[in-house]
Amino acid sequence: MARRKKIYEGKAKILYEGTEPGTIVQYFKDDTTAFNAEKKEVIDGKGVLNNRLSEYFMTGLNTIGVPTHFIKRLNMREQLIKNCEIIPLEIIVRNFAAGSMSKRLGIEEGTQLPRPIVEYCLKDDSLGDPLVSEEHIAAFGWASPQDMDDILSLALRVNDFLSGVLYGVGIRLVDFKIEVGRVYDGDFQRLIVADEISPDSCRLWDMETGEKLDKDVFRRDLGNLADAYSEVARRLGVLPKISTPAGRPTLIN
Ligand code: TMP
Repeated sequence: MARRKKIYEGKAKILYEGTEPGTIVQYFKDDTTAFNAEKKEVIDGKGVLNNRLSEYFMTGLNTIGVPTHFIKRLNMREQLIKNCEIIPLEIIVRNFAAGSMSKRLGIEEGTQLPRPIVEYCLKDDSLGDPLVSEEHIAAFGWASPQDMDDILSLALRVNDFLSGVLYGVGIRLVDFKIEVGRVYDGDFQRLIVADEISPDSCRLWDMETGEKLDKDVFRRDLGNLADAYSEVARRLGVLPKISTPAGRPTLIN
């Protein structure tokens, strides 16, 4: 058996060279971190759930014409993706105040925002991913004004799609983060949604009870993270309805 070439290892995922040129294998780890990896734990099954959930959301986006890096799921923990040049920004879309925005602006968590608010953070762990303005982005050349138009349009389309899909299963999309990458096609280039879309990168609240079904369960020690992610997967029909003797749903393939 030949060893695969590892391209990059992050906090929650590993990237390996893909099987064909222009592709990459993205492996989802069970490693769970918060506060720039100050808090760390290995949570059994989290990687499997995020692989499935990211597949589900990215496939839906591809289907409605929002381009993403997703090609196909390979197995329980891996998916084949398009190689792209990641723009060094974390793009956050907020529908309701929560997390760092609530802290920064003193707005109570759960307050509905007058319209979706898009924020940009510089992707740099050594600086703690600081919030930046479009002025910074243009001045330091992290993305062009044309890129920023495309990023805003992608972010809002992803927001509408995710909000609708999650609303259908009784989940409020409070906020989320995406990353965007550049792909080249002959003389053309375009931006596509990259990285992952999962409960690691979204805030998801049950619409009736307000129960948190995302990584805040881990950040704030609110309970079992894998159970929360399983609930999202179950509602979306991503978890096959097979029960273990303990009555817990489990994943096949
Ligand atoms: P924040 O309120 O902590 O700024 O988070 C906003 C959204 O971004 C939330 O859905 C969680 C997500 N997020 C990430 O995906 N990665 C991160 O490193 C952070 C801090 C937040």
